[in-house]
Amino acid sequence: MQKTHSIKNFVKNSFDRAIFYEEFTPIQQEMAQIISSNLGSEEFESVLEIGSGSGYLTQSVNIKFKDYTCLDISENMIKGLKEKLKDQKGYNFMVSDAEDCEFLERRFDVILSSSCIQWFLDPEKTLRNFISLLKENGQIHFSVFIEPTFKELKLSNIFSGFGSTLNLKDESFYMNVFKDLNLNYKYVCTKKVYFQSVIEFLKFHKASGARFTSFNRICSKEDFKNFCEFYEKNFKDREKIYATYSYLVAGFYK
Ligand SMILES: C[S@@+](CC[C@H](N)C(=O)[O-])C[C@H]1O[C@@H](n2cnc3c(N)ncnc32)[C@H](O)[C@@H]1O
Repeated sequence: MQKTHSIKNFVKNSFDRAIFYEEFTPIQQEMAQIISSNLGSEEFESVLEIGSGSGYLTQSVNIKFKDYTCLDISENMIKGLKEKLKDQKGYNFMVSDAEDCEFLERRFDVILSSSCIQWFLDPEKTLRNFISLLKENGQIHFSVFIEPTFKELKLSNIFSGFGSTLNLKDESFYMNVFKDLNLNYKYVCTKKVYFQSVIEFLKFHKASGARFTSFNRICSKEDFKNFCEFYEKNFKDREKIYATYSYLVAGFYK
């Protein structure tokens, strides 16, 4: 319980501090745009977005709605998004942990989430809860980072003892959670992204809200030096280092 609480605080604090999020997250933006184009421009009564963050998805969807609830564990993210949408009607905002959603007593026509679910401690249970919040014929559209995202970072961490990485699920894990719904579309993308240096990559990584050090340990300068050397030696191509990103975007209906 204590550990769960620490991890949640770690995630919340990381995103509370992610003030440069939009400058360093082109992949997250791409993931949100794929959802928006698949969602189309239908009209819905009620929409719930989980982990709305700075609003990549919120601001790119073309659907019409009566009410759109933005939910995020980070108070600062919700504050920023509220300000951006202050002149638009139909939005309401909630600061809350999506994994503790008993407070949501209502049902929704559409549930959306872009690049958030990989942060859940128990994604299977949480996603099943959200499926139960869908109205009959309701839709759920999400994007999530999957294995082998940051496999180079993971190996360099193991070798150097420097930091830690999130344990990500794979595509089949998510497809299995949604197996009782009807698949609308599915898209998987895996690609290498190139950076000038390991330091530049870590800067992107940190600004995206993720952290390259563990939530409960301090790392030495020596560990960091070993980490950078291992990364450069093994994951460099034509003078640039690379990192693998892999994501799943899918839509289902009830
Ligand atoms: C990588 S950002 C993505 C934000 C936005 N959806 C986008 O596409 O840019 C992940 C967001 O999920 C939120 N988040 C992480 N865990 C959460 C949880 N358990 N409940 C609610 N929000 C959560 C974070 O605060 C952050 O704003």
